[in-house]
Amino acid sequence: MKKLFKNTTCLLAAAMLSTSGIQAQGTPRDMDRFIDDLMKKMTVEEKIGQLNLPVTGEIVTGQAKSSGVANQIVQSRVGGLFGLKGVDRIRELQQLAVEKSRLGIPLIFGLDVIHGYETVFPIPLGLSCTWDLEAIEQSARIAATEASADGIAWTFSPMVDISRDPRWGRVSEGNGEDPFLGGAIAQAMVRGYQGSNPDQQLTRNDQIMACVKHYALYGAAEAGRDYNTVDMSRQRMFNEYLYPYQAAVDAGVGSVMASFNEVDGVPATANRWLMTDLLRGQWGFQGFVVTDYTGIAEMVQHGIGDLQTVSARALNAGIDMDMVSDGFASTLKKSLDEGKVSMEAIDQACRRMLEAKYKLGLFDDPYKYCDTKRPARDIFNKEHRATARRIAASSFVLLKNQPMQGKAEPILPLKKQGTVAVIGPLGNTRSNMPGTWSVAARLDAYPSLYEGLKEMLAGKAEVLWAKGSNLMSDASYEERATMFGRSLNRDQRTDQQLLDEALATAVRADVIIAALGESSEMSGESSSRSELGIPDTQRALLEALLATGKPVVLTLFTGRPLTLCWEQEHVPAILNVWFGGSEAAYAIGDVLFGDVNPSGKLTMSFPKNVGQIPIYYAHKNTGRPLAEGHWFEKFRSNYLDVDNEPLYPFGYGLSYTTFQYSDVSLSSQTLTADSSITATVTLTNNGQRDGAEVVQLYIHDLVGSSTRPVRELRGFQKVFLKAGESRQITFQITPDLLRYYNYELQHVAEPGDFDVMIGGNSQQLKSARFTLK
Ligand code: BGC
Repeated sequence: MKKLFKNTTCLLAAAMLSTSGIQAQGTPRDMDRFIDDLMKKMTVEEKIGQLNLPVTGEIVTGQAKSSGVANQIVQSRVGGLFGLKGVDRIRELQQLAVEKSRLGIPLIFGLDVIHGYETVFPIPLGLSCTWDLEAIEQSARIAATEASADGIAWTFSPMVDISRDPRWGRVSEGNGEDPFLGGAIAQAMVRGYQGSNPDQQLTRNDQIMACVKHYALYGAAEAGRDYNTVDMSRQRMFNEYLYPYQAAVDAGVGSVMASFNEVDGVPATANRWLMTDLLRGQWGFQGFVVTDYTGIAEMVQHGIGDLQTVSARALNAGIDMDMVSDGFASTLKKSLDEGKVSMEAIDQACRRMLEAKYKLGLFDDPYKYCDTKRPARDIFNKEHRATARRIAASSFVLLKNQPMQGKAEPILPLKKQGTVAVIGPLGNTRSNMPGTWSVAARLDAYPSLYEGLKEMLAGKAEVLWAKGSNLMSDASYEERATMFGRSLNRDQRTDQQLLDEALATAVRADVIIAALGESSEMSGESSSRSELGIPDTQRALLEALLATGKPVVLTLFTGRPLTLCWEQEHVPAILNVWFGGSEAAYAIGDVLFGDVNPSGKLTMSFPKNVGQIPIYYAHKNTGRPLAEGHWFEKFRSNYLDVDNEPLYPFGYGLSYTTFQYSDVSLSSQTLTADSSITATVTLTNNGQRDGAEVVQLYIHDLVGSSTRPVRELRGFQKVFLKAGESRQITFQITPDLLRYYNYELQHVAEPGDFDVMIGGNSQQLKSARFTLK
């Protein structure tokens, strides 16, 4: 029987090759026929096996055949595996599936390749601050090249959850607060992983299947506490949260991951409206849906039934693959016998899994991603690293840059001379550089900031280092914040001893680079915080460093917006470097020492304090708005103790040069249904250095049938200008750009007045008005 199947596979593949010429995968009809034939041969248990995605854990090469999952593979109880790194091991397990299971159906191997593989790019929040879609696509392309060289066919990325709450640690994995930008980035990532030509996605062995997550609304967890309840109106969902997932679907994403949270009171994993009506019915999604890690089993804790009940609910809602819960594998057959799920539902899910494998070309060549010669050539090579360095430098956001007292020039960029002291608990730790969700990273292979700067400045400047403080005074908090092998090696000396050593180093220096902020595991999954300042001992260190009177540059490591009012007031220069990836140290050097002019702009507002959260630029006006520039007024929407503005607004970021915007001119004051208006500004680099500016376009719908935000991003361009150069920047405004979901959830552009605003951040804007007829 098996032999017959294999011959059929080969014949079919050969037939497809000859009819289509180049494409090994064949037409949709070929695929349907192939899968029909295959499914006729499958038992119910084998079909359910395709829906099962266990995690492998660590498997040593050569032992795959005797590992725990091996038996399951041979019994056809597994559709795919994830969490395994190394092409040799993956090849061994694939061989087991192909040669030892009854029908020889290949496995799909997945991994969290989130911001790079061994060449690590900035955390996604940092990447989004480049506002450079080409660079973002390229980062995903390189991640796909490296992962596919190592056996991976499927990545659990892009994560596109919109969030307006920096208490939530997973903001580090997303693209910030804005759906328009988030949607554009989601599409760039899908193109990078699967291929930029929509007709030829997944045809090559360096293209891998993407998985958009976490569907849906995961970033709106109450109080920013991870996995917490989500509840919002449908109108808000459609206008503010759902678009990036839909954008990924439009770009052809092959799979979707269900989120942990509930939506409308039903966990996403069991929510049929979400998984079937909206995703497939309205958006036309054709791929498969996988749960998040133990997403099915967690519904027992959510309180909607036992494992059998919740597994049946997940399948009936439209889930195809069960990650880790073992709910499908252990209960679906029983539910089928008891009439709780139908054979059609199991067949449907099985078909979708087989289709994914077919689209990946695994039936043609199960070892498509197992070329053992590729890793040496394709992983962590010179070109990839150079690209990662360039992209990292463009993700950093210069938050402040002022001269020292009595000087004319701002502190940055620094000169490559004299003595530079790197001081702080994040200044000399390799494992901290790649940032959260870098599971394939080689933690020891990337230089720390101190090591990188020393290498870059060799022969030009002396570089010193002192730790200065631990991450925080509370040792148990530090332990929680440095898990997963990313310890900062807590120093057992007292705070005073550490500080004394740092000050002795500081007096020898001409300039101090204070490497402070969060450790990489203080953001990411299960890393919510209720206070968002720089931790206590680090702040004390910073104060002491400033008191020396030496120039201090705060080089801020963080996975989320922090509250930095004190730092903004007292520190002359602040460069936010997020977690920049494997090449971060060099990229930081490039920017600090002026080889690269910073061009990153924030994609998430930085609050003044935690009480302002959620804070975001696209807020509603309310019936009692506070006049712009004002603080407190009784009976207005505001606080007694802080104003309504963020510390740093969405879109904000400085450069070593300055840009000037002309007024906005419009090609017409009226817009009709089938026309467009051109909005133009002249942008001038009126500073001394070449540099790039992110020109942002916002729209305000002045009167709607529902209330509308004060402004919404609807366009952006990253423009490079030489010092002194001017350029006209144009945007086309069409009625489509003005649509929103009204009370009836119709996607409409309503006639009336609109303001178009253009500028370098969401607060400093030039504006013009037009009317939609
Ligand atoms: C996370 C996902 C991730 C999955 C697999 C979960 O805990 O929420 O983002 O893809 O684990 O590692």
